[in-house]
Amino acid sequence: MRIALGVSGGVAAYKAAELVRRLQQEKLDVQVVMTRGAQEFITPLTFAALTGNKVITGLFGDKEASANVESAIEHIAVAQRIDLLVVAPATADVLAKLANGIADDFLTTLYLATKAPVIIAPAMNVNMWEHPATQKNIETLRARGVRVVQPDEGYLACGMVGPGRLAGIEAIASAVCETLGLRHDLEGLTVLVTAGPTVEDVDPVRVLTNRSSGKMGYALADAAARRGAHVILISGPTELRAPAEVDWLPVRSTEEMHRTVRERASGADVVIMAAAVADYRPASPEPKKIKRGTGKMMLELEPTADILAELGRNKGSKILVGFAAETEHLAENARHKLTAKGADIIVANDVTQEGAGFDTDTNIVVLFSRDGRETALPRMSKFDVANRILDQVAELRLAQLGKGVK
Ligand code: PMT
Repeated sequence: MRIALGVSGGVAAYKAAELVRRLQQEKLDVQVVMTRGAQEFITPLTFAALTGNKVITGLFGDKEASANVESAIEHIAVAQRIDLLVVAPATADVLAKLANGIADDFLTTLYLATKAPVIIAPAMNVNMWEHPATQKNIETLRARGVRVVQPDEGYLACGMVGPGRLAGIEAIASAVCETLGLRHDLEGLTVLVTAGPTVEDVDPVRVLTNRSSGKMGYALADAAARRGAHVILISGPTELRAPAEVDWLPVRSTEEMHRTVRERASGADVVIMAAAVADYRPASPEPKKIKRGTGKMMLELEPTADILAELGRNKGSKILVGFAAETEHLAENARHKLTAKGADIIVANDVTQEGAGFDTDTNIVVLFSRDGRETALPRMSKFDVANRILDQVAELRLAQLGKGVK
């Protein structure tokens, strides 16, 4: 998710740097927008170094950039791109402009141009804060749906004591998380996710594999990490980059995946098998390249270990989620896999459906639970599917805690 952080000109502007760091812990991409006043207190370079993004300091960009159309309409592009605008610190001047629709710099123009939710964290001298003009502006903004993080009371930079100090970083960050619907309901849990294909050698040149891109599994790993879990991602070969702060373990064959899952599953509270694991592998891979002949060629295959079923047999209090990649009889096959593999949830996808299954950014799934619930989800991004699966995992975990399971 991408948010814009508006920094306006007060002593508390330096605290915005700390806020950037805190928001990055939530995996948010932060675009900083500074008013002219803010630049008197802290340099754009600080925020550029922290965020890795260009800091926006004016409506018309730098002189060279202002000659192009892109720069002139940047506020519209940013307004459409962001999921949230947070202004911290918000001075009395900025509050007045926002309340009255004055758009004379990038930040105030962005406020008018965006449809994203807005949070403001005011900071100013106590008399300015308590002034009826400021209070009226606050009420106007609140009535418009803007969320206000009340300033704290205490010693102010001007030497006075009272309300007006920028709210604590945690208070602002939790307003951001709540507004964005970021949950921490998997905190304290270790979630093991498998992703991608497995690859079985036929000879040193040829392999047996499948069309899994890893997108579904990586989305699950990303979503679980964002919700506070410690994530172990065991991945077959993919072109994807592992999400930050995930324990990433690359594997190639089913045997390697099996071994790695075995090693790591004992420490996991939740295992989600999204990988497309080979059911068969060449019985005796050739050490040298198989030469072309004239007639037909037979390749003898032997079954691989069923990793999910093995986990199901030794489940204990682990929550086990398997997938079912089907091309027909989706419900019937998924219900069978639910019991045969001893899973708590089977996520079934019909991989022949457009927008579902292999190497797509979206998926269309039905969740089959052990308690008989069947939840059909419409086509949605794999990240959203991942969150819907994790919602059910979190529910199961709560139910376990209710029964005293640690
Ligand atoms: O990676 P993407 O391109 O994003 O595609 C996503 C996906 C289609 C791969 C994913 O949504 C999916 O369906 N994954 C499971 C694919 C699969 O192997 O399904 P299956 O019905 O053959 O296996 C059932 C379950 O048993 C799966 O959880 C699988 O991981 C597991 N299994 C299968 C074989 C085996 N030897 N060991 C296993 O543990």
